Amino acid sequence: MTEKPIQLGLAGLGTVGSGVYETLCRNHALLEARSKIPFRLKRIAVRNLEKPRETVVPRELLTDDWQDLVNDPEIDIIIELIGGTRQAYDLVTLALRAGKPVVTGNKALLAEYGAEIFKLSAEMGTPIYFEASAGGGIPIIQSLQNSLICNHINSIVGIINGTSNYILSAMGEHGADYADALAQAQKLGFAEEDPSLDVNGWDAAHKALILAMLAYGTTISPDKIYVRGIENITSRDFEFAKKLGYTIKLLVVIRYHEGQEDALELRVQPCFVHDWHILASVNGVFNAISVNGDIVGETLFYGRGAGKNPTASAVISDIITAMRESRYPEYHTGFNPYAKACGIMHINDTVTPYYVRFQVADQPGVIAEIARILATFGIGISATSSAPSHIDEGGAPWNDLVFILHSCPWGQLQKALEEITRISCVAAEPRVLRIEHLLPQS
Ligand code: HSE
Repeated sequence: MTEKPIQLGLAGLGTVGSGVYETLCRNHALLEARSKIPFRLKRIAVRNLEKPRETVVPRELLTDDWQDLVNDPEIDIIIELIGGTRQAYDLVTLALRAGKPVVTGNKALLAEYGAEIFKLSAEMGTPIYFEASAGGGIPIIQSLQNSLICNHINSIVGIINGTSNYILSAMGEHGADYADALAQAQKLGFAEEDPSLDVNGWDAAHKALILAMLAYGTTISPDKIYVRGIENITSRDFEFAKKLGYTIKLLVVIRYHEGQEDALELRVQPCFVHDWHILASVNGVFNAISVNGDIVGETLFYGRGAGKNPTASAVISDIITAMRESRYPEYHTGFNPYAKACGIMHINDTVTPYYVRFQVADQPGVIAEIARILATFGIGISATSSAPSHIDEGGAPWNDLVFILHSCPWGQLQKALEEITRISCVAAEPRVLRIEHLLPQS
């Protein structure tokens, strides 16, 4: 290899940045041999030059000004791993304007500013790569872009937040309650100190937006996705789920409904999943994404969705693609050359079966009255379950009544529930979870 090495500028030396640095050093020869392109890491921008680091980096590589990377005419490719959206936005847009390809893993940035950034990338003819933005070490982005290129994507359904999956797994497997499972996740370093984006569903939603935009070549504003988190799931819901043959998972559902005007169903929420389905056995911090294409059929991608080395693996695959495409720019096809005109389906029109748990006063006729109202809305019941009554503070007996309901639109169920909760012996706010009917694996 006698050609001039490609020079890289890395912004951010946190968990993922250190993993990228260490792997580039450790597997440098392997990467050059496989890519047939010589490269070197020229500069690393960090916030604080004096901060003690586990990863030892030669002092002369470091700068505390990320603009040094963009302004250095010798740096060919910028790797953005600083996180957040404010500085990352400035860095990414400046780099693209300077004609320097960008590698990023910043899902929040792409979910919020993706439309603008992809447009800028196309206008400047400067690529942006983002394998690490969804699914951590799982190669889902390049699979959608390349390996599944001949498919219309029917659906993408999966578990793409490791922290919430860890919490739900602990609740399901060990009967932990939500607060204890979250505390345990924090203690083990899986959940952030502020875990809100993980548990409220928005980390998964950012990733879902990126996958949906990529699969359908469309731009989607974050206010179009329906997002619910796991904060209100209780061990009681898990008890019923188990009894009825299910578990509970925070699922991302992206599904295309051929022939409908607003064809794209797009939501993130905790769902009942049959305990025989493969997604039910994806536990702990693991992620799994099932992609259904019209040609390939059902596929499943499984792996670590976060963490230093898995995410570094994804970032480095992008660095190599960026290097190849900067040598052979004619191969770069842009963010997504294929665009499908599709509106986002209103949540009220999305159809699934449901689990509904009512807290009711233990009185004669309650079940009959609930069933009557459901019937007036055309909603069938496929199973019921209940637990022994408990006595409230005033000495009155209450119990949990669970109904598994046949498929109906979400909006129709809401109207029925509004009427049911007007019955005096039914407590407000029943617990409702969708039952996600997934294809059996054969
Ligand atoms: N906090 C995320 C998770 C990883 O728990 O999956 C980064 O998106």
